[in-house]
Amino acid sequence: MSLKIALFASGSGSNAENIVRYFANNQHFIFPLIVSNKSDAFVHQRAKNLEIPSVTFAKQQFESGSEIVALLHAYKVDAIVLAGFLLKIPEAILHAFPSKIVNIHPALLPKYGGKGMYGDRVHQAVKAAGENESGITIHYVNEQYDAGNIIFQAKCAVNEGDTVDDIAAKVHDLEYKYFPEVIQTIWG
Ligand code: GAR
Repeated sequence: MSLKIALFASGSGSNAENIVRYFANNQHFIFPLIVSNKSDAFVHQRAKNLEIPSVTFAKQQFESGSEIVALLHAYKVDAIVLAGFLLKIPEAILHAFPSKIVNIHPALLPKYGGKGMYGDRVHQAVKAAGENESGITIHYVNEQYDAGNIIFQAKCAVNEGDTVDDIAAKVHDLEYKYFPEVIQTIWG
């Protein structure tokens, strides 16, 4: 039996692509659809290269929930991976996919999470606070931003001279290494 996973991404989509490539020769994991909230996000180009259909839902349309749930059902989606997706997941999706939605956050939650905390903003906050470590958190998604049960965390050092880009690069390396492995562990 295969598991069909929809990938949600708002921006570049490098994690989404990394996940698809990791499972390219694994028939248990199928990625039938990529969902974004931005029509100009680079993830659409990646989807094209990967030959996976991608769709855009504007914020309001996404938040109303029914259309996206119908589409996910049409694609027979079993689970959802948020890979750099910035909108809050509406009740309708949470109810349709109980315990089947995971997110990656580019910091060590519960620190540096919540509304407005995404991408480089997170790394900026980590740097401004003078933290000597950061990392990634993979967690189940519930009705609050970045607050669902934590599945996995990994750390990296933050050195005094590190720029926001340096921190982002270290965090991305952890994401590329661990996110596919964790997906395989929880749903394999
Ligand atoms: C990733 O670092 C991911 O952890 C982060 O956005 C980046 C997306 O990069 N997610 C959040 O900040 C969610 N709050 P990508 O588009 O290249 O995969």
